[in-house]
Amino acid sequence: MMAELGGPQPADRMPDKVRRDVAEAAADLAWIQMIVPDPAGPADPADPAQVAGNVVIWTHELAGTPISEIGWMVLPEYQGRGYAKRAVRQLLARARDERRWGEVHAFPGVGNAASNGVCRSVGFRLLGPTDTEYAGQTLRTNHWAIDPAADLVT
Ligand SMILES: CC(C)(COP(=O)(O)OP(=O)(O)OC[C@H]1O[C@@H](n2cnc3c(N)ncnc32)[C@H](O)[C@@H]1OP(=O)(O)O)[C@@H](O)C(=O)NCCC(=O)NCCS
Repeated sequence: MMAELGGPQPADRMPDKVRRDVAEAAADLAWIQMIVPDPAGPADPADPAQVAGNVVIWTHELAGTPISEIGWMVLPEYQGRGYAKRAVRQLLARARDERRWGEVHAFPGVGNAASNGVCRSVGFRLLGPTDTEYAGQTLRTNHWAIDPAADLVT
């Protein structure tokens, strides 16, 4: 899961990370959405065992300028079935419909074929390679951007 993100992060940092994520989601500062493959099915969609992954939009500063960024993850047993693509499309369609977030950026690792595939499929423009700080490490990434109102491929 973390191969393209600089490797696993220390487990003891996760409770604080989850607390901050919950606070940001509750305050509507970030959209942190779980991918539930079949919420209408017999399984309980609130059961973590039913969650295939997540897709998230948040804002942060890049070289002193605030930007909106989107990121995603799909657990290995659910990969390769189009979940990331569908989830990213759905969240960007909501951003478009609610006129929220403006232009949205993504920074997949240059070698992350599936993530770069997601960007290409949903209509992001490739701006080029760049170095990105993630969890205290510098990663070689591709910089993609999309204006959901104009570019989203549905
Ligand atoms: C990246 C990730 C989210 C992709 O999720 P997924 O649900 O398997 O992706 P999808 O099935 O929606 O496929 C998306 C696109 O990538 C392509 N793809 C999927 N797996 C691929 C692979 N291993 N190699 C090349 N292309 C691949 C698909 O064909 C599709 O492209 P298409 O529209 O041209 O057919 C998932 O692999 C993951 O969570 N990896 C670990 C964490 C991570 O790297 N997160 C992203 C950080 S930027």
